Amino acid sequence: MTINFILNGEDVVFNAEAGVRLIDILRGNFGLFGSKPGCLSGQCGACTIIYNGQVSPSCLIPAFKIQGSEIITIEGFSQTIEYQEIMNAFAQEHLGNCGYCEAGKVLCTEALLEHIPNPTKEEILMGFSGIKCRCTNAERLIKVVNNIAASRQKRLYESAT
Ligand code: FES
Ligand code: FES
Repeated sequence: MTINFILNGEDVVFNAEAGVRLIDILRGNFGLFGSKPGCLSGQCGACTIIYNGQVSPSCLIPAFKIQGSEIITIEGFSQTIEYQEIMNAFAQEHLGNCGYCEAGKVLCTEALLEHIPNPTKEEILMGFSGIKCRCTNAERLIKVVNNIAASRQKRLYESAT
């Protein structure tokens, strides 16, 4: 089947079997390797992308559901100031660790702060409930997200004045 969609802001078209997963298409057809294959069953979050504005596991999205959608991968998001802000804060707290689920952690941070600019501890934990990171301490993650929220609010305030 022929599929048209928007990938990282660009209109793309390709041919695929209806049941092929988005993660395989991103890696195999478009050379985007930031979304990692982990459990391949929607449990770990290593393959996270943004699908029509929602963080989603790309291993659970079959090709036929891509038609007409808008998809942002970590490669697309890496072109934004928000990405730099998140990565700087992760680096300061050494939150990168093995990096296998980094796309998931970064995109979940962005999705959370976009909807809740100043999240509580519970909201942060809920926002990351789809990421099963083996090497990130929850308390440090909460601290980092709070740091990012504060610096983002400061940046937005300064750009508005
Ligand atoms: S590989 Fe997709 S959620 Fe684990
Ligand atoms: S950084 Fe998440 S699994 Fe290692």
